[in-house]
Amino acid sequence: MSHKPSPKPWINAIHAYVPGKAHADDGSELVKLSANENPLGSSPAALAALAEAKAPAGYPDPDSGELRTAIGELHDIDPARLVCGTGSDELLNLAAQAYAGAGDEVLFSNFSFAVYEIAARRCGATPVIAPDVDYGTDVDALIAAITGKTRVVFVANPNNPTGSYLAASEIARLHAALPSDVLFVLDQAYAEYLTAEDDDGGLSLAADNANVLVTRTFSKIYGLAGERVGWATGHPDIIASLNRIRGPFNVTNHGQAAALAAVGDQAFVAASREHNAAERARFVEVIESLGNHGLRPLPSKANFLLVLFDGDLTAEQAYRALADGGYATRWLPGAGLPHGVRITIGTSEQMADVARILRELTETAQ
Ligand SMILES: Cc1ncc(COP(=O)(O)O)c(C=O)c1O
Repeated sequence: MSHKPSPKPWINAIHAYVPGKAHADDGSELVKLSANENPLGSSPAALAALAEAKAPAGYPDPDSGELRTAIGELHDIDPARLVCGTGSDELLNLAAQAYAGAGDEVLFSNFSFAVYEIAARRCGATPVIAPDVDYGTDVDALIAAITGKTRVVFVANPNNPTGSYLAASEIARLHAALPSDVLFVLDQAYAEYLTAEDDDGGLSLAADNANVLVTRTFSKIYGLAGERVGWATGHPDIIASLNRIRGPFNVTNHGQAAALAAVGDQAFVAASREHNAAERARFVEVIESLGNHGLRPLPSKANFLLVLFDGDLTAEQAYRALADGGYATRWLPGAGLPHGVRITIGTSEQMADVARILRELTETAQ
């Protein structure tokens, strides 16, 4: 009889995260519109900082001190209420691990970010999925799903993969309905794509309440996905609990240097937001013009569009044809969306080309 270590059953129950593709099935490289990265690249200031970052032989600052100070100044947050992570992924996982375990429930919406289920299962907790409303987060459904076992609620706003968004009043209504001993994790990975009027009030909620953690990332509008830097803010007790269990040197020298410089280049952030808004609006019009072929864009406040296919042209055909045309997008059967393709908003040229491919496809599919 062979003896070998067996992973815990809740670890075996995890379906590993499937990252956005960058290559076609034959191995050829594709333009990556599958991972919601910034098509404009990174801030020149961040690139310059990377070239001069502290030598890799030395460990990084374990507390990302300078970076936390800069984030604090930008958002008016006491650095004691901030923790940085190896991407916001690390912080989402730590939040679940610190506050939930076997016998507890971790609640999130249908069609929300795939990491929430992994984060729940990793710590032995039970993932509970509340129904969506027309692919968006349904606050009433989340409230109805709260039980005495709920320990953590995850909401992404704007949400991935749908792009849907809850206004500040809805976020406040959800928070007000949560028992005070439930941790509300508001994942704002795409928050910088919102205009100031669309601010969902999350940072204020985190400042004023002991049960709210807001997470942000440098992977999206800041264009630093490869450096793996995220941050979170909440009550100092929550931050202390995450600090206890995070990796001691969890943000690299290069990550800290690049993110610090990127925080200082808000002009790049604004330009990225404007580019995204203009290209997204143009692309929405294209998809709407193909409505008679069953294509529907879900309303998006993020840097991607989830396109639903309900006609002769299927999502799978569109996904494969876009790959043949040189573009990696995200077909989402594994997320319960076999009729959906999520497309990151790219450069103007890329979006015009994607639009052309989709138009031509609908013409031949009839
Ligand atoms: C909603 C949401 N949250 C968090 C993340 C994680 O980003 P990162 O770990 O790169 O900060 C992503 C990335 O796609 C996301 O879509």
